[in-house]
Amino acid sequence: MRESWPIFGVDLHLEIDPALGRQRGLEQALRAAIRSRRLVSGTRLPATRRLAADLGLSRGTVRGAYDQLVAEGYLTADQGSGTAVAQLPHLSADVPGEPSAPAPEVPWHDLRPGRPDASAFPVTAWLRSARRALTAAPADAYAYGDPRGQFELRTAVAAYLGRTRGVLAHPDRIVITNGYVQALALLTRVLAENGPATVAMEDPGAAFHREVVRRAGATVAPLPVDDRGARTDLLATFPSVDAVEVTPAHQYPTGHTLHPARRRELVAWARSTSGLVIENDYDGEFRYDRHPVGAIQGTAAEHVAYVGTVSKTLGPALRLGWVVCPRRLLTPLVEAKQYDDHHTEVPGQLTLADFIDSHAYDRHIRTSRLRYQRRRDQLLARLRALPGPPARRPAVHGIAAGLHVLLSLPDQGPTEEDVLSAAAARALRLGRLNGRWHASGDHPQGVIIGYGTPSEHAYPAALDALTDALDCVYGAA
Ligand SMILES: Cc1ncc(COP(=O)(O)O)c(C=O)c1O
Repeated sequence: MRESWPIFGVDLHLEIDPALGRQRGLEQALRAAIRSRRLVSGTRLPATRRLAADLGLSRGTVRGAYDQLVAEGYLTADQGSGTAVAQLPHLSADVPGEPSAPAPEVPWHDLRPGRPDASAFPVTAWLRSARRALTAAPADAYAYGDPRGQFELRTAVAAYLGRTRGVLAHPDRIVITNGYVQALALLTRVLAENGPATVAMEDPGAAFHREVVRRAGATVAPLPVDDRGARTDLLATFPSVDAVEVTPAHQYPTGHTLHPARRRELVAWARSTSGLVIENDYDGEFRYDRHPVGAIQGTAAEHVAYVGTVSKTLGPALRLGWVVCPRRLLTPLVEAKQYDDHHTEVPGQLTLADFIDSHAYDRHIRTSRLRYQRRRDQLLARLRALPGPPARRPAVHGIAAGLHVLLSLPDQGPTEEDVLSAAAARALRLGRLNGRWHASGDHPQGVIIGYGTPSEHAYPAALDALTDALDCVYGAA
């Protein structure tokens, strides 16, 4: 017998085994719900009269089941407040197949890459935009929306990208997505629609994105990276590639900027083969020492799908990004988006549109840029002060932009594992270069330091832990 009944407005699904009889069946169903934590400690159960009526049982049967579970310690009965689920912290260990309750979190220092300082999210300004945008929104903003995204946001993004990144963007060419990852998946799916597709991706690069491309139906080809960024000079030797995905502003994870000659080669490849460049403008907003490099899309709009995201500027939790798309891909991309999830959620889009139009986005990025630049300078000062002769110290790459640097470790050691274990011993998380290569093998050693991740007040202690870990491995080397 499957039954659901509302407990103070909350539905609970119960599986009552008729073979056990009424009372024992109800006891067993309640016990299972409590042990699996579907009924959590403190939940008040319905009065016996109401539950009996809902389940078609006698009141005595329900009272009997409650009494039994009170006797077993699953429930508490109180004259004033009725029957409730008891505090049972010990239960998780003896529920088959259930992970035990997580141990209390040790406060780790977090210098992993790929994350902005979540504590710096501009809550007040965001709320102001949300209030303005949702107050002005017509009722149909809460109905199904446009698969391309809200016109307000596409217009705001087009103006912003033209102004700040040199992107040739028209609102009609923009598709709003749930961040970069969805844009990459949809573009790949479009490429793979008419037969086998291959996407060349930077090596090293983001392993997660390689998997996204594979799952969307394409083959991944490794495109090596050196200190001029992706080796676009090699593309002519690749047998058949439909698209090349690059992080030209600040290569992930080496931090190099794509050299102008390589940018030209990439565009020439796209023009001569009708291939697609997927430009991941990762970290494009955070450039510290020189004027930002404009987007490649600005030089070849019909050959480049330009993709941006607010994951680094505001926060990945928002799941908001955009593709500026060549004309030939627009219809299939919009269809792919529509069949994936109709469209990105509308209230967040309208809020972001207001946030951009009111220049709160520019202000937030400017403030963040200054903060991250200061953090980067503090990090570099610490790295310069490491012990040992310069030739034995790690070289630092990718300092000009973004929220991370790469420390490449000299061949004679210490190794990546040495540094990561010294860090772990100090409750410090860093990024490893190891998992970012396409194939396992004998690769250069390095660790990635994301200086965007901690909150302002946590950053100095994270730097202390890093310095201590590096002092230890380099002092010992
Ligand atoms: C290389 C790179 N690009 C883009 C992103 C942002 O992805 P999304 O917009 O899906 O959060 C990340 C996130 O860590 C990343 O590592």
